[in-house]
Amino acid sequence: MLTQPQWYQTAVFYELNVRAFKDNNDDGQGDLQGVISQIDYLADLGIDCLWLLPITPSPLVDDGYDVADYFGVHPDYGNLDDFRALIAAAHAHGIRVVADLIMNHTSDQHPWFQASRRRQEPYTDYYVWSDTDQAYSDARIIFLDTEDSNWVWDDEREQYYWHRFYSQQPDLNFDNPAVQEEMFNIARFWMDMGLDGFRADAVPYLFEREGTNCENLPETHAFLKRLRAMMEDEYPHAILLCEANQWPQDVRPYFGGDPNDNSVPGDEFHIGFHFPVMPRLYMALKRGDRSPVVDILKRTPGIPANCQWCTFLRNHDELTLEMVTEAERQWMWEQYAPEPRMRLNLGIRRRLAPLLGNDRRRIELLNSLLFTLPGSPIIYYGDEIGMGDNIWLPDRNGVRTPMQWDDSANAGFSNAAELYAPVIDDAVYGYQRVNVASQIFNPTSLLNRMRTLITTYKEQPALALGDIQFLDHPDRALLAFKRITRHETIICLHNLSDRGVSVEIPGTYDLLAHVRWSEGRITLLPYGYRWLKVD
Ligand code: BGC
Repeated sequence: MLTQPQWYQTAVFYELNVRAFKDNNDDGQGDLQGVISQIDYLADLGIDCLWLLPITPSPLVDDGYDVADYFGVHPDYGNLDDFRALIAAAHAHGIRVVADLIMNHTSDQHPWFQASRRRQEPYTDYYVWSDTDQAYSDARIIFLDTEDSNWVWDDEREQYYWHRFYSQQPDLNFDNPAVQEEMFNIARFWMDMGLDGFRADAVPYLFEREGTNCENLPETHAFLKRLRAMMEDEYPHAILLCEANQWPQDVRPYFGGDPNDNSVPGDEFHIGFHFPVMPRLYMALKRGDRSPVVDILKRTPGIPANCQWCTFLRNHDELTLEMVTEAERQWMWEQYAPEPRMRLNLGIRRRLAPLLGNDRRRIELLNSLLFTLPGSPIIYYGDEIGMGDNIWLPDRNGVRTPMQWDDSANAGFSNAAELYAPVIDDAVYGYQRVNVASQIFNPTSLLNRMRTLITTYKEQPALALGDIQFLDHPDRALLAFKRITRHETIICLHNLSDRGVSVEIPGTYDLLAHVRWSEGRITLLPYGYRWLKVD
């Protein structure tokens, strides 16, 4: 049994797109030196760990998730020395850094794939080739808007190759031990530069087996356990963060250990996204009814004591609606993505603030849930200042626009004449109004509220580590729960409706308002929330 909490169990993560954050050399693309130049901002915000989106060389069909070289940095972002410098700068500020590790697939431009399609050894079997496009037909298509099959015919090899994402992203063949060994060496290469771990991309799909949906297979878990063992052995400080967009009971095995005994330490992933809770936060808020959130969390199995969930409100992808029913998906689209342009695959390609009608109360309310429900919170860059999106850009690019630093030209992101993407420039979310500079010294800004939430979260270990106990209340608009450790209890109250809700509380200290409440009734304002420490 571990007695001390592990750092990732109490950490606040910040997801950052290097291309979008800050351009240091004025070529219109954000870069690693740009991130270094803003490290004080990140430290001041109070985050503990940066998650960097892909930075390796890539034709950028999938914004870097199509890797063309695992051992370099895309020239737009800098070079390996810049990468080392970023890690050093982050560490000097007490910030850890994890990066994406993309194991499932490469770009079709990767030299391995080029060699494989020519049947050149040792790469012939590095990818999943077949004479027929009928194999593994039970596997779903993920990028539904662009792909109609998981197979593509290759004229050169005269066979089909398998891909779970874009057709330009052939899947690697994990049945080939050489591919597995490559992954270990890639992990070592980045870890040796001082990284603190990986966000392991798209792990459910590593192996394929006929007659299955080719997700979460035992072979996949066996490989991931070997990866963990290697990491544990050679880089014991590092973490593996699991990206498996699956139901909670299907994510549980990714933590490893013993599914029937959570006192057995996990031996696969340290931490894993809780995907299904995310759309249910939006659902509950729109309906003014806590049930979707309570139900999914009650359905969430326990995890080993050395593991942690992580939660998020938005990320660099579409707001995924894969883990809801068909009827719920239609409802979510109607409510949150009325225009077809706002939809992508099985999701919604919008940012937090526009999803919530730029209503400060609701933005804060969801953030309060992010910090009080179980799981380490992840903030998506720009959401801390309420950035908007650009639904006129293709794919998921509309939520990957330049960070808005100030109200100067290009939002203070770059001095270049042309940027990789236009800055948000509309009447509501335009950089002239929504930017860091205008919020940082304003005590009532969203940015400063986020800082307060982060600071308070970090001062109250029960919010990260406590058990959760939902409180019953006749009004379903009240989402109330306790976070309980042996030493303390925090009552978290959230009003999901646009009317006041009154609730009976014991004597408590209000961690955000800094007042003491004696036993009795308090009324939460519309979309109000309170974090109350029981005396
Ligand atoms: C990433 C996506 C990416 C996909 C394929 C996902 O996990 O979040 O951005 O397109 O993997 O690599």
